[in-house]
Parts: sequence; C-alpha cells; structure tokens
Amino acid sequence: MSDRILVFYGSYRADRMGIRLADYCVRTLNARGAQAELIDAKAVDLPMLDRMYKEYPKGQAPAAMEALADKIRQADGFIFVTGEYNWGVQPGLKNLTDHYLEEWFWRPAGIVSYSAGRLSGAHASVAWHGTLSEMGMVVISSTVTVGPIGKTLDAQGAPIDEAGKSLEKSFARFADDLAWWSEAARAQRERKAPPY
Ligand SMILES: Cc1cc2nc3c(=O)[nH]c(=O)nc-3n(C[C@H](O)[C@H](O)[C@H](O)COP(=O)(O)O)c2cc1C
Repeated sequence: MSDRILVFYGSYRADRMGIRLADYCVRTLNARGAQAELIDAKAVDLPMLDRMYKEYPKGQAPAAMEALADKIRQADGFIFVTGEYNWGVQPGLKNLTDHYLEEWFWRPAGIVSYSAGRLSGAHASVAWHGTLSEMGMVVISSTVTVGPIGKTLDAQGAPIDEAGKSLEKSFARFADDLAWWSEAARAQRERKAPPY
C-alpha cells in the first residue's frame, strides 16, 4: 500500500518562492510511488483562528475545514514546507495547523525549510519541531534545508546545478526516513488502536 502524504505549505505572498519547493516535494514523492497531495494554506484559506475544528458541533464546521480534517485523519504522514519570517514561522501555515489537534495524532512529520539566503529557514525549522511534537506528531530526525531557494529550484520547480543536486540527494534520504515511519505507524495503528 502506498503512503498517503500531505505536503503543507503556507505562504500567502503574491510573489512566493516556497511553492517551488512544495511542488518539488509532491512531485518527487509521487514519482517514488507515494500518494502525495499539496495542502496550500492560501488556497484552503481558513479564517484567522476563532473556533478549532473540534469546537464546532458535528457537521457544522465550514466545508473547507471539514474536508481538510478528513484528509488529515486519512494521511499516513505529513511534510511541512516552511519559510521563515523574522526568524519565526509563517503565519498562514501556523494558523491552518492550529485549527486541528487530535486529527494529527499518531503519525510522523518531516520538516523541509527554505529561505532566500544561506540560512535556509533554519530558525523556522527548529520552531516547527516543537510545535509539531506538541500537536501529537512524531517528528523524524531527517530534515531538508534549502537556501538560497532561487538558486536551487527554477520557476518550474526543477533542480538547478550543484544546489539542486544536493537537494535531490538530501530529499531522497529524508523521504526514505518518512516512508519508514509512515509504514511503521500505519502498521501499529492497524495492530493496536491508539490509546486515546
Ligand atoms: C516578512 C519577511 C520576513 C523575512 N524574514 C526572514 C528571516 O528571518 N530569515 C530569512 O532567511 N529570510 C527572511 N525573509 C526572506 C525569505 O526567506 C524569502 O522572502 C522567502 O522567499 C519567503 O518565502 P515565500 O516566498 O514562500 O513567502 C523574510 C521575508 C519576509 C517577507
């Protein structure tokens, strides 16, 4: 059975660059045999957090929120593609994730970070690690860091030169790690219901 992986990305900027990397992740995972899908926070466009998904009476959450809850519950693993604003996480993606809690539980997550410069979104990567753990995901130790993103992926998301080669190498190892944990968590959920 192929792994169902959701790839989250959350920049709302008109000239956003990280979409290249999010698309690269989805394309590469699908080429490896996974069932990967991009969840673009800007396209989903949840409201600024008021009620969490679980705080709505059953069947009364907005349609986009309900549909995403369903996808999260069905997934075997998650990738968070994150840029960095002033050493912090991007608010669009954080707003989307905060709408859910139990829906994330008992699955692995991997972090792919990027920036316009050489630091590759490392501060945001570290910040997401704690956040994803708090939300019940097991964060894999492999990470991917991309910087400068404009010199690594072209406008179509194709790898460029040496930086692109380095991304392809690190992403393959990262995807192997995520696949191993996705399969392990799926097998364990089938063997034994999660304790809560
Ligand atoms: C508000 C803002 C703050 C930024 N802060 C950082 C930062 O702290 N570190 C960094 O490496 N790049 C920073 N940048 C540059 C981003 O790495 C670059 O704009 C990147 O393309 C943003 O991702 P996006 O294009 O997907 O929105 C910042 C950009 C913006 C718009």
